Amino acid sequence: MTTPLTDATSRPQAHFAPAENWMNDPNGLIHHDGLYHLYFQHNPESADWGNMSWGHATSPDLLTWQEHAVALRFDDDEQVFSGSIVFDASNSSGLGTDGRPPLIALYTSATDQGQAQALAHSADGGYTWTKHGIVLDRGTPDFRDPKVFRHDGKWILVAVEALDRQVHLFRSDDLREWKPLSVFGPFGAPEGMWECPDLFPVGDRWVLALSVNPGHPGGGSGMQYIVGDFDGMTFTASRWDWLDHGHDYYAGVTFSGLDGPVMLAWLDNWSYAREVPTHPWRGSMALPRRLSLRGDVLLQSPAVELDRPAVFSCEATPIPVAGFGLPEETRGTARRIETTIRPAGAAIELHVRAGAERGEAIVVRYDEGVLTVDRSGTSNTSFSDSYGLVSRAPVELRDGVLDLDIWVDTTSVEVFADGGAVTISEQIVTADERIGVRIGADRLGATIDSLVITDLDRG
Ligand code: FRU
Repeated sequence: MTTPLTDATSRPQAHFAPAENWMNDPNGLIHHDGLYHLYFQHNPESADWGNMSWGHATSPDLLTWQEHAVALRFDDDEQVFSGSIVFDASNSSGLGTDGRPPLIALYTSATDQGQAQALAHSADGGYTWTKHGIVLDRGTPDFRDPKVFRHDGKWILVAVEALDRQVHLFRSDDLREWKPLSVFGPFGAPEGMWECPDLFPVGDRWVLALSVNPGHPGGGSGMQYIVGDFDGMTFTASRWDWLDHGHDYYAGVTFSGLDGPVMLAWLDNWSYAREVPTHPWRGSMALPRRLSLRGDVLLQSPAVELDRPAVFSCEATPIPVAGFGLPEETRGTARRIETTIRPAGAAIELHVRAGAERGEAIVVRYDEGVLTVDRSGTSNTSFSDSYGLVSRAPVELRDGVLDLDIWVDTTSVEVFADGGAVTISEQIVTADERIGVRIGADRLGATIDSLVITDLDRG
């Protein structure tokens, strides 16, 4: 079976994708002057990786995005790889003008000679940038992805030596001169290079988030998080886990300028990203996620407010063994499905993006403590041999109840379970006519405690 390629009409509704051409990692995430700024690894000239530059988009609410001109462009001297932005409120860099403090970007300048961290500043709130060259160089080929944050009156920078699987920590007063503090790693995931580190406080703990390629249990690239402590010099680890159990969650980092951590990641996997048959754009972001901890377990919840009436809701409804399709008004390509279910020993299946034929659906299944998402029934699976079909993760019931928050968009399905302790993010490539929702159980006794379906279409 061949599935039509997606095209301009299938662009994501609740996720950012560029109007055209290639995109990978989010860069320079910052909330500034009331707007969220998203920069992204972008090839301004084609839908393939290369000519790396920072594209730019802004949003008032993390849901609707406006794309702007390319912010930091590749040139004859360098490609502009991943990095971060901070608001230099005290003008510690001295790059502010007319009493206006600057935004400062630290990014990886990638050349044939190696990778080093370079600085740029913006005097107009992030729309145009001036490059100032390299400020931190170890003379090595794979030193990259600087993430900067303010801590105890100093600037701290974390960046990876990707192949050593190590994070290097530095400190600075002025964002230009960086002194080494400590080195962390390897730790956690047993293989894969490290990319895009982020270190941030969550309550009274610290979390180090890392992208790992390859080595994710689903195949290819994925993210791990490490819970621990940071004393201003050294990060000490206590526990690690995979951050997302799906095939498509990578290069996630948190926004600067917010009180608590909100992460945005690339909804993709390096093992097939270059082959995804979308046109004229390639690559989209996952939902922004608010992060918190339950003990040592990271919780993730969608960081967008949906101020919309439900298209369907029900309570206390037994799930028939044959299953049932939800009414006409629940049908659509972009839906949020929030539900609490009492399995009572039954295996539960939710079919989303379901077509007319049996087996045509993305299947979210809970059975004996394991949650799986199977994208084989809806997605075009033939564009890459590396495109894995089924993701799985253990999920606990709370007082016998399974809670799911499922975001279905034109090119993705993201599942948040157990209060966000488990997430599974999947990219799909599908035809738009597959839009139904069905729920079923393999034996009698299971009930829906609550179900709310919301429309995500931009309208
Ligand atoms: C992660 C990454 C980064 C690098 C960028 C290049 O996906 O490989 O390490 O800076 O992409 O586009």
